[in-house]
Amino acid sequence: MGNTGSERANQFVVAIDGPAGAGKSTVAKLAASRLGFSYLDTGAMYRAVTYKALQQHLSFSDKSALASCAANSKIEFEDTVNCSAPRVKLDSHDVTDAIRDPEVSRNVSEVASEPEVRSCMTSLQREIGSRGRWVVDGRDIGTVVFPEAQVKIFLTASIEERAKRRFDELVSKGYSPVLEELISEIAKRDGIDSNRKTAPLKQAENSYYLDTTSLTIDQVVDKIYGIVTVKKGQP
Ligand code: CDP
Repeated sequence: MGNTGSERANQFVVAIDGPAGAGKSTVAKLAASRLGFSYLDTGAMYRAVTYKALQQHLSFSDKSALASCAANSKIEFEDTVNCSAPRVKLDSHDVTDAIRDPEVSRNVSEVASEPEVRSCMTSLQREIGSRGRWVVDGRDIGTVVFPEAQVKIFLTASIEERAKRRFDELVSKGYSPVLEELISEIAKRDGIDSNRKTAPLKQAENSYYLDTTSLTIDQVVDKIYGIVTVKKGQP
């Protein structure tokens, strides 16, 4: 069923794309809450499929197995009272923490480069974002998923800074990462994401480029809030 006129008038998408570890999910979540918008973490969806493929010991070179894994994955986001972001459910199980495991991070780009996996996720993302006001973060949101998004932002930072942020995040979760390994993992992931044939990571046309290397989270959220507020005020 198509959207009604009033649903369309109320629909607003802020698309945030950028390379691994640029802080997209942190700032997208905060910007959404300040704007009163919902938040959609598309990376979580690719992570959920990767988690399931790992659990099922699928070979990442088996394209049809990955495609049917994606097609048969029930991915849902569930709002909970005490959490800043929705919980991620895969086939009715909460996988919010499991999909952040370094093993998933190491393999997700390979799974996400599979066109049939992407087509499945893109449809689901469009369905979720078709009603209401959303901040959506990922790699291809402003270029492929929501090319008509009212606001598009390309968020980046130096690779050293991105690896340092990921290092701090993993330490806070009890892991013992090695900074040099994170730098090469992130560089590898950026390479796969930017060079894949389907929906590669690139800056969307008419997007704002935000280099966050020397900005605090609050400063980035302020900038995004300002950009969206100005845009919302325009006819
Ligand atoms: O949080 P982090 O920057 O590590 O990445 P993420 O947003 O959780 O995304 C994990 C991976 O999913 C990316 O490295 C991409 O390979 C893939 N992804 C994608 O291909 N397209 C999206 N819209 C979102 C994520």
